[in-house]
Amino acid sequence: MKVLVLGSGGREHALAWRLSRDPQVSSTFILPGNPGMKHTPELTILDRSEVTFEETLRTVKELGIALVVIGPEKFLFEGWVDEFQRNGIPAFGPNQASSFLESSKIKSKLFMREFGMPTADFAVVHQLSEAIDAIEQHPEWKGYALKLSGPAQGKGVIVCHSTKEAKDAATQFFKHQPSGIEDGMVIEECIHGREVSLFYVCMNDQYQFLASACDHKRLLDHDLGPNTGGMGAYSPATWFHQNLLAQVEKQFVIPTLKGMQEKELPFQGMLFLGLMVRGDQLFLLEYNTRFGDPETQTFLPLLEGNFANLLLASATKNKALFGESKLQTKNQNAIHVVKTAKGYPGLFGQPIESKQAVHLSAGMYYHDDSTTLFFAGVSEENGCLITSGGRVLGITSVAATKAEARKLVYEKLDQVHFNHEHFRSDIGSGS
Ligand code: AMP
Ligand code: GLY
Repeated sequence: MKVLVLGSGGREHALAWRLSRDPQVSSTFILPGNPGMKHTPELTILDRSEVTFEETLRTVKELGIALVVIGPEKFLFEGWVDEFQRNGIPAFGPNQASSFLESSKIKSKLFMREFGMPTADFAVVHQLSEAIDAIEQHPEWKGYALKLSGPAQGKGVIVCHSTKEAKDAATQFFKHQPSGIEDGMVIEECIHGREVSLFYVCMNDQYQFLASACDHKRLLDHDLGPNTGGMGAYSPATWFHQNLLAQVEKQFVIPTLKGMQEKELPFQGMLFLGLMVRGDQLFLLEYNTRFGDPETQTFLPLLEGNFANLLLASATKNKALFGESKLQTKNQNAIHVVKTAKGYPGLFGQPIESKQAVHLSAGMYYHDDSTTLFFAGVSEENGCLITSGGRVLGITSVAATKAEARKLVYEKLDQVHFNHEHFRSDIGSGS
């Protein structure tokens, strides 16, 4: 089977690397990829300056691709899965209509409420005056999360600790849209607890749990500094006990898949739940309908079995294949740490430094039994890798214990360098 992964970041590098290790995968292509991926010799990079659906479809047909795996949510929201299906090409991911679970904060919150899933109390607003009212009506909330609803603004979330801070943040959000925000905004109660990401491959009412992981979102050690796309993660979430998984299935996974069927939007693809855990209470913060970054780089090295078949089964709605494609998780721990460029995450228009040469120490392997190097924001100049994005690369190490994986990953990180690099030194520390 020939497979194609769409995207160019660390998550896509990990997906392509893992797919290429499946015995029935004969070739793994990645489009547009990045030049760092050349160091995974099993991958073929289809370098494109612009990625359009028509061009991609032509390539898929020419190469005889049997499965397309989509990385970034953007393609899901644009309906690429629908288009591939129309052309008889299996593509892993939800169709455009079902991807509202991630693309619209408002619709997904209303869906959670309709199907009785525990989530933070919330209000939907479109105008600044409504936002201020919603905040003032809930002085009892222990903080406020303000979330822009529209797809382009998936990252537009601000967590505020007081009414004043929330009102100031709302004012900032509406500053450039005095006539209101068309796609709206969700204002919700802040839930305090521990966050966990859970990943399920789904097909209608069937699902398979893949992994739990914890993402460290803040830029600096001890969870300080601004939010980022994720500075590192560990998997499994050692503190998230097995009995809580049964609760998640009952409270969230089964109601979500049933709800989608009731709405005649049977769900296929990745259901990624962002949960907040407070004692034995679980709250669904958000849905994503794709693989997480950097969680995917973290948990994929732990998965054994026929990954490509499971994704193909979901993409082709093949019940029998889905049932027999069971993945096993190694009884080990994985830690992934991201190295970022100076200026990342580029708050308030701060430039992100690029064009720094990436150096590997002699003897550092890109992949060995316990460690894998995944590239994200890199390009090539005169045959050398240089930085070209905020999230430059990440390393995953796997070991029997979390402490051993931590020791190993930091040793390996010391063997890859670029000027002004930044990384957190406390990924996976603590219980
Ligand atoms: P979301 O895109 O909804 O996951 O929000 C991004 C991040 O904001 C989450 O991963 C949480 O860290 C935080 N967050 C979102 N909603 C809440 C909430 N209701 N309470 C506390 N933190 C939240
Ligand atoms: N790591 C969170 C995300 O991928 O959205």
